[in-house]
Amino acid sequence: MERTLSIIKPDAVRKNVIGEIISRFEKNGLKIAAMKKIWMTKQEAKGFYIVHKDKPFYDSLTDFMSEGPIVVMVLEGENAIAKNREIMGATNPANAAPGTIRKDFAENIERNAVHGSDSPETAAFEIKYFFSELEIF
Ligand code: TYD
Repeated sequence: MERTLSIIKPDAVRKNVIGEIISRFEKNGLKIAAMKKIWMTKQEAKGFYIVHKDKPFYDSLTDFMSEGPIVVMVLEGENAIAKNREIMGATNPANAAPGTIRKDFAENIERNAVHGSDSPETAAFEIKYFFSELEIF
């Protein structure tokens, strides 16, 4: 069993598709091990995306991620990290495969509906960023 951090980003929360997105995880065999709705400050968004601090899109991305509420989840299952990224689709929705979340709900490469950890190391950092062990079942 593997755990990964998933975020339904402000664009998708505003579109009222939280349930549709979560049901795609469940239908693909991932379990919601933890979940909450929060609204990050700019500083919290900068801390979460610290690996991208030198990228040209860092400021705009962290503005977007703190513009409204998000849903953060721990997904659990076999190969949860890779499976979640497959369900999400490519970062840029223009390149996302049919049937993926980003193909169906993302607006562009920045406002792309969902986040998913990309490695076990990232997942460990990202899960700890939002949840304590006592909140994950
Ligand atoms: P990245 O880790 O490359 O993608 P993913 O979310 O698929 O793991 O980038 C993190 C986020 O940064 C991405 O979801 C949206 C944003 N981003 C941009 O705004 N512009 C860009 O050119 C890239 C590559 C990412």
